[in-house]
Amino acid sequence: MNNKYKSVPVKSSEITPRHIYLSRRDFLKAAGIVTGGALLAACAANTEELTSVASQATAGPETDAIGVSETKYDELGDPANSYKDITNYNNFYEFTTDKQGVATLSTNFKADPWSVEVSGLVNTPKTYAIEDLLKAFPQEERIYRLRCVEAWSMVIPWMGFSLTSLLKEVEPTSEARFVRFETLFDPDQFPGQKSGFYPWPYQEGLRLDEAMNDLTLMATGLYGELLPNQSGAPLRLVVPWKYGFKSIKSIVKIELVSEQPATLWSSIAPNEYGFYANVNPEVPHPRWSQATERRIGEIKRRPTLLFNGYAEEVAHLYEDSDSPTYYFR
Ligand code: MTE
Repeated sequence: MNNKYKSVPVKSSEITPRHIYLSRRDFLKAAGIVTGGALLAACAANTEELTSVASQATAGPETDAIGVSETKYDELGDPANSYKDITNYNNFYEFTTDKQGVATLSTNFKADPWSVEVSGLVNTPKTYAIEDLLKAFPQEERIYRLRCVEAWSMVIPWMGFSLTSLLKEVEPTSEARFVRFETLFDPDQFPGQKSGFYPWPYQEGLRLDEAMNDLTLMATGLYGELLPNQSGAPLRLVVPWKYGFKSIKSIVKIELVSEQPATLWSSIAPNEYGFYANVNPEVPHPRWSQATERRIGEIKRRPTLLFNGYAEEVAHLYEDSDSPTYYFR
């Protein structure tokens, strides 16, 4: 295993007060700047589009959207992408497959009121209103790399809390071996769900020990603000050592189960988007290499790191097998 890349999540002891008091409506007004753009019709790399986004993008914070002026860095010393980049280049197929169209189409999405059911093989199932989750679990900042399976990446300063603290509250039983996550199903709000091509709702899953790893984050915000709709408001998963499609958005259900759950992408194309989906530069996607990636905001490609640079924290989870199964499929 490669232990070369030390990665300590950055934890912020202080939460921007605006995260607490700014109403979602005011926040959306402040953040609602969008541009139209090129089309991308499938979860696949598109060099032309990446180049066009890279040439518009800027590393570091922008002051136009939320008044951020301090530059944030990940633990490898790379600057976080700007708020503008992070919120104008999104994969959220419930709205559209056009990455640069998600922000506009999601403007009126209703992420409040919202509740999340945590159930299945647990001793104390619970349903939380989103405001109770925000109050019950201390919110901290984690600056993580997000590596999409399409070979682009960003550095994102998330706000949120460890999934493990939530799971401990509901007490998984000894039969629980996997965690299954589900996105809201609401075709009136999600036009993409009217398409019969995808097996909606979006579903994802983790092995229980992956879910309990401290890096696994329930994100509620970014740049110290509540999550904007295009990023998966009001609650999404972030699993930084896995390809981005594992990081399911707008979650309404978290279920503890005994069998490996089906996931949206592995149901459609099991040999392309497997359950484990750990970032590994040596295991190519069947249709393209995963050895390098385009960091949004940069022109030159950079090497992709094993486990996206988080080997020290997570390699032990896969030590019982050398099988590529654990890395990609
Ligand atoms: N979650 C839902 N519900 N629907 C989606 O289409 N796309 C996934 C993931 N979570 C997706 C989702 C993919 S492919 C990626 S790369 C990330 O979200 C993108 O997150 P971002 O738009 O915040 O960068």
